[in-house]
Amino acid sequence: MVQADVKKPLARPVIFLGPPGAGKGTQAKLVCEHYGVPHLSTGDMLRENVRQGTPLGLLARPIMERGDLVPDDLILRMVEERIARRDCLEGFVLDGFPRTLAQAQALDTMLKTQRAFPPAVIYFNVPEDVLIRRLSGRRTCKVGFEIYNIYERPPKVEGRCDVDGGELIQRPDDRPEAIRERLLAYRNLTEPLVEYYRRQGALEEVAGKATVADVSAAVFSALERLEARQ
Ligand code: AP5
Ligand code: MG
Repeated sequence: MVQADVKKPLARPVIFLGPPGAGKGTQAKLVCEHYGVPHLSTGDMLRENVRQGTPLGLLARPIMERGDLVPDDLILRMVEERIARRDCLEGFVLDGFPRTLAQAQALDTMLKTQRAFPPAVIYFNVPEDVLIRRLSGRRTCKVGFEIYNIYERPPKVEGRCDVDGGELIQRPDDRPEAIRERLLAYRNLTEPLVEYYRRQGALEEVAGKATVADVSAAVFSALERLEARQ
């Protein structure tokens, strides 16, 4: 894997933008481990709320299972609270947020208020047939959210996480009907953000169809180009 030799904090908040199954979560884990910054996945935060049965979780669960987007105001409250914590002072990676123009504009305001740098965006471009295969083969650890794929990245022991031995489960929104809805929501509401950030000169595109190691190398070089551009 090609990575920078010296660990340095990410000066700008980083957004991983791309369709469901593009590899945002897989790559965010690698980048966050390398730079020692938090991985802020709005999907993981919502799933944790569902698991704990919080009011937000109860509201979000049927929406997520259908494959629709959770309302902006609920997501924004959750993200604003999270990025205000101390561990985000040295940078962070947003995975799965923003997903609508209203969320992107609200994030701009939040970052200005916190006097943080404007965000840098990595856009994962992956063809739809690859996305569908990846999503239907995905399995996730119930304990640590580690991500596997029965076709491409199987665990060493079937059904068990390599890292903590946790049970591997299929996400309810990885059923075919929910996958269709998620792809539709992405095309209609999230894809316009590619142009929004490209126009600001804040976006680098990565071809996400390659192997995990090759995509990772492309992500690290794209991050270096974005950092150099600020
Ligand atoms: P979320 O959890 O964010 O799901 P998503 O965006 O649909 O993306 P995924 O997590 O499915 O894919 P990924 O890109 O992370 O891919 P992964 O690395 O897992 O959101 C879920 C739901 O929560 C939403 O539908 C919505 O309801 C709600 N929500 C969340 N955020 C919201 C927001 N901001 N606003 C409103 N609602 C929100 O990889 C996929 C599979 O491919 C894995 O099996 C992996 O092992 C494999 N894989 C990855 N990379 C490769 C590779 N290079 N080669 C081969 N296989 C690979
Ligand atoms: Mg994910």
